[in-house]
Amino acid sequence: GSVRVRAYSSSANLGPGFDVLAVAHTAYYDEVEVRLEPGTGQVVVESVYGPYASQAGRADTARRAVEELLKITGTDVSNHDIVLRVYKGVPPGRGLGSSGASAAAAVKAVELLLDLNVSDSILVKAAGRGEAAAAGSPHYDNVAASLLGGLTIVSFDKDGQLYVSRIEVDAWFALFVPKIEIGSSKTKLMREILPRQVSLDIAARNWGRLAMLIAAAMRGDLRLMGHMMMQDEIVEPIRSRYIPCYDTVVEAALEAGALGVTISGAGPALIALASSREDATRIAEAMTRSCKCCEIEDVKIAQTA
Ligand code: HSE
Repeated sequence: GSVRVRAYSSSANLGPGFDVLAVAHTAYYDEVEVRLEPGTGQVVVESVYGPYASQAGRADTARRAVEELLKITGTDVSNHDIVLRVYKGVPPGRGLGSSGASAAAAVKAVELLLDLNVSDSILVKAAGRGEAAAAGSPHYDNVAASLLGGLTIVSFDKDGQLYVSRIEVDAWFALFVPKIEIGSSKTKLMREILPRQVSLDIAARNWGRLAMLIAAAMRGDLRLMGHMMMQDEIVEPIRSRYIPCYDTVVEAALEAGALGVTISGAGPALIALASSREDATRIAEAMTRSCKCCEIEDVKIAQTA
C-alpha cells in the first residue's frame, strides 16, 4: 500500500525568534505519497505536481529528507526503492516554509510506511537536514512547525542534541505574499545579508522579547504575542529593506487591527496576527489595498494548523 501525508505551510522567526520559532498555518499545504517498489534501496521522486510544481524543481528536499531519515535510523530497504509523489501547494521562495513542508510530509509518510516509530526530534532533524538542500544551511524551524503543527520551538543544547517543543495557539493570520523575485537561492541570500556578530545588550533585549512572546503564546495573550513579534532588532530591520512595500503594508495591517505584523521566514511574505476570522479578513483587505509598489501574488486568511 501507500501512505499519504499532508504538511502545512509555516512562518518562521515571528520577529525575535530567528531560527528558533515557527508557526504552522492552514494557508497552504504540500502532500507526499510514498510506497515501496522492488528496487535497490534508492529514494526516487516519481512526480511533482500541483499548483507550484513548476517552481519547486525536483523536490530534492523531500528526497534528501527521506535519505537522512533512513541514515539516522539505520533503516535498510535494500531490495526496495522508496517512491515519492509530491503535491506542491506551498509557493516556494516566499518565506512560507515550502521546502520544509515537502520535507516534513516526506519523513512523516516514510515513518508511517515503514513503521519506524521515531521521536519527533528525529523526524525534525531528518527533515531539517533534507531542507538544507534548498536553503544552503540546515535550519529546523519550518520543518518543526510543519511536522508538529502549532507554534514550535527548536533548540540545540551544547552537545548538539536537538530539542523540539510545541505550543497550542488558537490564532488567525493574514498572509500577504508579494510577487518579488529575489532569485532561486533566496533564503541563502537573505541569510548572507545578516550580521555575523551581535552585541550583548542587543542580544539580551532580543532574547527577552522572544521569551516574552512564548510566555504570551502559552497564556493565549495574543495582544502581547503580537507586540513582541514586532520587536526584533537583529534580523527584521535588515531584511525589511528588501521588501519594497514593507512599511506601507505593515502600517495598513496595524491600522486594520492586526495584533502584530512581521516578515514570514526569510520573506518576502508578511504575516499579520489576529484573534478572529473577521479581523484577519479585514487586515488582509487593508494590506491588499495599501500595496501600490509591488505586484501581489496572493493574500490568504489562515488559522494555526
Ligand atoms: N529561520 C530561517 C531564516 C527560515 O529566517 O532564514 C528560513 O525559511
